Amino acid sequence: MKEDSGEKDVEREVVEISTHQRKPILQAIFKFLLLLGVMMTTFSYISANRATWAEYLQYNLNGTNKNQSPPLYQVDPNQPFIQYHLAYPRNYHFILDDTEVCRSNTPYVVLVVPVAPGNRKARDAIRKTWGNETLVQGELIQTVFLLGLPSHGNITALQEGVSEENLQYHDLIQSDFIDSYINLTIKTMVIMDWLATQCPKASYAMKIDSDMFLNVENLVRMLKAPGIPKKEYLTGMLMWNRPVVRTRSSKWYVPEEMYPDPLYPTYTLGMGYLLSIDLARRFVDVSKLIKPFNIEDAYIGMCMKKLGLHPTQAPHPGDFRAYLNVYNRCTFSRVITYILGTSEQLVTFWTDLKKPGPPC
Ligand SMILES: *[C@@H]1O[C@H](CO)[C@@H](O)[C@H](O)[C@H]1NC(C)=O
Ligand SMILES: *[C@@H]1O[C@H](CO)[C@@H](O)[C@H](O)[C@H]1NC(C)=O
Ligand SMILES: *[C@@H]1O[C@H](CO)[C@@H](O)[C@H](O)[C@H]1NC(C)=O
Ligand SMILES: *[C@@H]1O[C@H](CO)[C@@H](O)[C@H](O)[C@H]1NC(C)=O
Repeated sequence: MKEDSGEKDVEREVVEISTHQRKPILQAIFKFLLLLGVMMTTFSYISANRATWAEYLQYNLNGTNKNQSPPLYQVDPNQPFIQYHLAYPRNYHFILDDTEVCRSNTPYVVLVVPVAPGNRKARDAIRKTWGNETLVQGELIQTVFLLGLPSHGNITALQEGVSEENLQYHDLIQSDFIDSYINLTIKTMVIMDWLATQCPKASYAMKIDSDMFLNVENLVRMLKAPGIPKKEYLTGMLMWNRPVVRTRSSKWYVPEEMYPDPLYPTYTLGMGYLLSIDLARRFVDVSKLIKPFNIEDAYIGMCMKKLGLHPTQAPHPGDFRAYLNVYNRCTFSRVITYILGTSEQLVTFWTDLKKPGPPC
């Protein structure tokens, strides 16, 4: 869809010019179209791999007379003419994507878990717990895992393990970017791209980290309550006026070149945020205009801001919680999310929560 709009812009420009000064410019238009044709032929192979030529053109058209900071480009040494946006998800390819999720079914909520290729333990714990809650209050809930390429360790062995695991479960989606902490924004945008292209008929999606407790029943109850928007809806644990970390040693350090403002826009904490499915495509599209930085949740906040939208406070804001020091069955039965310490905790707490008898 978006790939077309660059050419449309060009067309529109051409039409405008020709209606104003028809004759003298006709030759120039012809030359321009000829040149464009040649260029598009030359670069047609790009569309299969990188951002399309139309997108590249649009970038430049938009970039010339705007007062905004340019997107972060990376120059591919093999193809020096093509500069591409590092976090723009269509620069990457899915190398593993044979799940039935959204292909043979239409989930109400798709839970997408970004996880490192080597973290089988976390995936298995999720498969045994909230990832196995597929029918909740009559609604189909599906869980998939999103992986990049292994970045360290025995890469061959890790990659073989991932393929075998997927043969068993068919719930892994792997893209060809290097999976690392600094690349989390790429991972999130690849998730959005997958949702936009594979799951457009789902109602909602949730990006949820692999170290989370998720109460799926409460999540679905919240979504089905009257008044919950079906579009332009992003909710979770809201962060307001968060200062950008400028301490170099911090895990969350962001240099001023990447993000100059001292504060982030309002965003939802990355541990687990829920979006109406329409937003996935809009994030992918608008990400072309936003310089990427390594804080994925704040980056989504930037996407919302650029779209002129705001994250919404959940009906019971306390349902999206970060840490809890101690397990409490009653509390866990009432919230939607919690950050946990280990995968073992997830299985232990879950088993306890699901045992018969009232939790409170
Ligand atoms: C280019 O700028 C126009 C006008 O601001 C905008 O509508 C369009 O969406 C921009 N292009 C891209 C890549 O989004
Ligand atoms: C998921 O739940 C079903 C029963 O609802 C059970 O048979 C199956 O073993 C569970 N899967 C895992 C991985 O625990
Ligand atoms: C990496 O794993 C492969 C396949 O399991 C194995 O054959 C190879 O010896 C391993 N390499 C190292 C350096 O451990
Ligand atoms: C992030 O991913 C890109 C694309 O795969 C890769 O070129 C880059 O080295 C990665 N960065 C890190 C720090 O892993």
